[in-house]
Amino acid sequence: MLRRLHHDQPDSFAFTPANQEWAEAQITKYPEGRQASAIIPLLWRAQEQEGWLTRPAIEHVAEMLDLAYIRALEVASFYFMFQLQPVGKIAHIQICGTLSCMICGAEDLVAVCQDKIAKKPHVVSDDGNFSWEEVECLGSCANAPMAQIGKDYYEDLTAERLGEIIDELAAGKVPVPGPQNGRYAAEPLKGLTSLQEYDSGKTQYNASVQLAVDIGDTVKRIDGTEVPILTPWRDGGTDVLEKPKAKKTPGPKPAANKPASKHGITKQEANADSAAKPRGKSNPPVDGASTEKKPKTLTAPRKSGADDLKRISGVGPKLEQTLNELGFWHFDQIAKWTDAEITWVDSRLKFKGRIKRDDWIGQATKFAAE
Ligand code: FES
Repeated sequence: MLRRLHHDQPDSFAFTPANQEWAEAQITKYPEGRQASAIIPLLWRAQEQEGWLTRPAIEHVAEMLDLAYIRALEVASFYFMFQLQPVGKIAHIQICGTLSCMICGAEDLVAVCQDKIAKKPHVVSDDGNFSWEEVECLGSCANAPMAQIGKDYYEDLTAERLGEIIDELAAGKVPVPGPQNGRYAAEPLKGLTSLQEYDSGKTQYNASVQLAVDIGDTVKRIDGTEVPILTPWRDGGTDVLEKPKAKKTPGPKPAANKPASKHGITKQEANADSAAKPRGKSNPPVDGASTEKKPKTLTAPRKSGADDLKRISGVGPKLEQTLNELGFWHFDQIAKWTDAEITWVDSRLKFKGRIKRDDWIGQATKFAAE
């Protein structure tokens, strides 16, 4: 299937304040220089908030991660879990059409969607409330046929039951997810034949369904206020939205770098440290980290006008702005950076290591020569 941005796009996108806070917290989970890895959680949260991924949302996430827009679009258009077109206001229904579900009646479920929602997948119903699509195996084959609605699975479906579920959702109710034929989980239809002792003391629903019922956000748009943001390694060990009630868990460990000093400090930690504290006598570079030197900077672009630094792969609008603020407007300035000067600039960027990784010097040299 061709995956393209939808022709009709909103003018702008902004995370809700709580989602923005959440997104910024996610970025801190990644080691220095690898913050772009937060792209999937951030795109996913944007989709959870809006229902689908708009172009402004993709660009917003790219800017948060200092990525060129095309890099974020590549991710958004590659993964089918990202909806690139509007979805129903109430729910987007994903019918599994793979083998087990297909031989157990998936086509009947698709027919219900075509009848009640829209003839074609990815088309929003006339009332704007629902949309549907056929997806590949969702890993619930023992409970075929099934569908994912919002965040949860509705299993052991019949055409009739799916029709009722859509009607219930339209009426503002959220039917209990899980098996719809009275099965507890994925046990044999006629009941347990072994391990029967585990049958006692169970909760009303199986673990997945119980959690879905307890959380209750099956088809809810997520605005970030639902759960506390757990980032105990930030802000002196407190959470952003709520103090953690549970025992603190240790923060993520830095990547497995070799110690850069005899004190066991990794280069990564040294970089993080350098970002936090300005260099000086009290904060010299640790063993193994290069010495830094401030390159020649300008207070404004030359009369000929600033170069478009975004032509350098890896430099997005935000990063270009940062470079301008540091005093860099032209390719020839960047082309001349020495190793020590790269270290100086690197320590002032949000994400370290990208100058060398993306070969800014080589790229800038080429652009400067043009
Ligand atoms: S075939 Fe439908 S969930 Fe696996």
